[in-house]
Amino acid sequence: MSKKDITTRSDLEKVVDVFYEKIKVDEMLQHMFINVKWQKHLPVMYDFWENVLFHTGNYNGNPMEKHQVAHQLKAMEKSHFDQWVLLFNETINELYTGENAEKLKDRAKNIAVIMQMKILGIDKEEFEGK
Ligand code: HEM
Repeated sequence: MSKKDITTRSDLEKVVDVFYEKIKVDEMLQHMFINVKWQKHLPVMYDFWENVLFHTGNYNGNPMEKHQVAHQLKAMEKSHFDQWVLLFNETINELYTGENAEKLKDRAKNIAVIMQMKILGIDKEEFEGK
């Protein structure tokens, strides 16, 4: 079956659902998500990504603060973020193709970098390989 681009909320729901199925069985990351209440968390993620891609304005949380708290409970490392991004990209590549699919991967990567700068204190040069 040929792949289409991401154009609707329902397409993003698919991305999030498949992504977390991967997270839940991932050796490196699954333990960081054991306390997550999925029924509550999934709709938040749908809103978050819909806002990122389609500027719907329906997410007004604070992911940086949330991850700061999560980091204090279970220390995050650069390798965790690398794996998170890898699984996210893998999910999108399996399901979709096109401009929005590329944009979503790009946005996720950028947010992951900003999170690492803020939470882990890794500076920008490290991501640029300098
Ligand atoms: C090491 C990588 C990561 C880990 C271990 C992680 C883990 C978590 C956990 C445990 C939560 C809390 C879920 C809950 O409320 O129960 C969360 C929420 C969230 N994460 Fe991550 N995360 C990671 C990377 C990212 C990245 C790169 C993004 C965005 C590109 C992201 C976006 C979000 C958002 C939007 C929320 C919801 C915040 C809210 O409730 O408003 N996460 N994450």
